[in-house]
Amino acid sequence: MSTTGVSLKTSGFGQTRRRDAWWVQQLVTLGVFSAFVVYSTWAAFQGEFYAWGPYLSPFYSPELFGSSSHALFGPRPEWWPAMLPFSPAFLILWAPAGFRITCYYYRGAYYKAFWADPPSCSVSEPRKKYRGEQSFPLILQNIHRYFLYAVFIIWIFLAHDAWKALWFTDAATGDTTFGIGIGTLVLTLNVILLGGYQFGCHSLRHLIGGNLDLLSKAPVRHAGYNCVSCLNRGHMNWAWLSLIWVAFADVYVRLVAMGVWTDWRIL
Ligand code: FES
Repeated sequence: MSTTGVSLKTSGFGQTRRRDAWWVQQLVTLGVFSAFVVYSTWAAFQGEFYAWGPYLSPFYSPELFGSSSHALFGPRPEWWPAMLPFSPAFLILWAPAGFRITCYYYRGAYYKAFWADPPSCSVSEPRKKYRGEQSFPLILQNIHRYFLYAVFIIWIFLAHDAWKALWFTDAATGDTTFGIGIGTLVLTLNVILLGGYQFGCHSLRHLIGGNLDLLSKAPVRHAGYNCVSCLNRGHMNWAWLSLIWVAFADVYVRLVAMGVWTDWRIL
């Protein structure tokens, strides 16, 4: 067999033959994701203005301990170290945060946007060695499945919050009546978008498909699997919509609780 010697040239960082604006997507990812991390961290540290009437911010739900009427087990616990700041969000926000960070879709997006690994498809990267997710620290991304279990429990609480957001108590008489406010719609849409995101998770698809590494080898085709697969096809859109909306839901409850916005009642 005849052979031809071809020398392979490695290009410098960012070099590509692509002519499209491949960097725009990375820039948007960097901006939106960074803004979300900064805002959610700030909101978690506030520890106030996270509830108003029947509304509870999704960043604080379930409120295990806290000062609002939504708290399940009463006020700040005695065992919480006095020298540390306390916020009900600290007790639960680790689960959705860990879930997003380890999400297969987000991994692909922020590896490109945050540390250019690679900057985009067919664009050369700044390092020569590929370490992948089979070694520390990125091997820890495999705990995604366990975050999935935790966020499903939280999602049930969020659905219950949306239900509670339909019942308004009159401060003067103490009577509780059915109603729909803009906040009810905001919290309900939040549950729908988070559901669309979580129920389209790749890990859930594997779990529901028989817990196989290679689904193509023994494809399972039942209604639940098809449903998860269907949501999975739009996973990127669900991921971004639910991210933006969950932050907006916190902004909404916060500004209403602060008296900056008025919660308009539709019913
Ligand atoms: Fe994105 Fe699981 S892969 S949520």
